[in-house]
Amino acid sequence: MMAVVISGTGLYTPTQSISNEELVDCFNQYVEKFNRNHSKDIEEGRVAALAPSDSSFIEKASGIKSRYVMAKEDILNVDVMSPRYTERSNDELSMQAEIGVAAAKAAMLAANKTPADIDLIIVACAYTQRSYPAMAIEIQQALGCGGWGFDMLVACSAATFGIINAANAIRSGTAKTVLVINPEILSPQVNYRDRDSHFIFGDVATASIIEDESTANAEHVFKIISEKPMTRFSNNIRSNIGYMNNCSPEHVNDVDKLFIQQGRKVFKEVLPMVSELITSEMAKMELGANDIKRLYLHQANSTMNNFIAKKVLGREPKSHEAPIILDEYANTSSAGCIVALHKNKQGLVTGDKSVLCSFGAGYSACCLLLEYV
Ligand SMILES: CC(C)(COP(=O)(O)OP(=O)(O)OC[C@H]1O[C@@H](n2cnc3c(N)ncnc32)[C@H](O)[C@@H]1OP(=O)(O)O)[C@@H](O)C(=O)NCCC(=O)NCCS
Repeated sequence: MMAVVISGTGLYTPTQSISNEELVDCFNQYVEKFNRNHSKDIEEGRVAALAPSDSSFIEKASGIKSRYVMAKEDILNVDVMSPRYTERSNDELSMQAEIGVAAAKAAMLAANKTPADIDLIIVACAYTQRSYPAMAIEIQQALGCGGWGFDMLVACSAATFGIINAANAIRSGTAKTVLVINPEILSPQVNYRDRDSHFIFGDVATASIIEDESTANAEHVFKIISEKPMTRFSNNIRSNIGYMNNCSPEHVNDVDKLFIQQGRKVFKEVLPMVSELITSEMAKMELGANDIKRLYLHQANSTMNNFIAKKVLGREPKSHEAPIILDEYANTSSAGCIVALHKNKQGLVTGDKSVLCSFGAGYSACCLLLEYV
């Protein structure tokens, strides 16, 4: 079978960032206001008082210190607590396409490719900002690429599943050089009034160039030596936003239209599932713990990543072995493991093996074993 490689990655980081302290300050203003406005009902037991959030809890429980967002101001406005964007006309590049284009250009530069080389664009992410025309086709036009493009949604595993789709398109001969783009604009799904989840997500875009090894001509090239995607249905991470919401107007503003999760259950169920996924894939490829130089893991929770790395390596991981980017970026859904890879390629030598692994809503998970070429 031909060898397929990741020959370049690109990153777009939004210019605005929100610290835990800023987020908590706004949340606690909201709590004070709510409790004041409902003081009689709270006193008489009809309404439960809201509890304040705490930045040290957030950092301790998740490892998150800050997150990048496309528009910060109204997230931190206690009367709004949601991002607000100016709607663009159909003649303007849409916001999600714009950040996808920025990441794609960086990936093409890293892989020494021009738009003329790209014959398939896959936009793989948790949400697309509209149903059609596909974001991938808008980006195809903006970049001036030929070929074809499509969008695919698999929440936190969209990027890795997208890479597998790209590899299969190359193997089957339907494409030669593929751009997989992950424009993750996640702040609109956050319920900034929910203490359990107001801190979790950030916005970012990543992109990867996937091609046959024989055409790769870049500084950092990772050969895909094995791939194992998996899904198992769970309601523990869910968002019910969708095109049919307007058909039940009485429920259109219910909180389940935003991100909701049972964080503890996710933790408990996903950890063994992912540890097993990685270790069995390593066993299949006859790789031991000592063969793995980097674990580029999904970025949702640093304790979770530390647990998985410990299980895989059989010892406490050193920080460069399982790089964490969620402290700065928070959870960026499918892009997280690509950001971790993008920022932590230095120091690898030919033959080094790495794990690229996503996990999250669906549940969906994917383990790719990579060899640095
Ligand atoms: C979300 C997450 C960070 C929460 O951490 P946790 O340790 O599970 O926290 P819990 O929800 O059990 O809450 C622990 C306590 O902190 C409190 N707490 C929750 N949010 C808080 C906040 N913002 N500030 C202060 N305290 C808070 C809770 O009320 C609870 O208090 P209690 O023990 O008195 O009941 C963690 O569950 C997680 O990351 N899970 C995995 C999520 C994941 O991978 N999701 C994939 C998404 S794509």
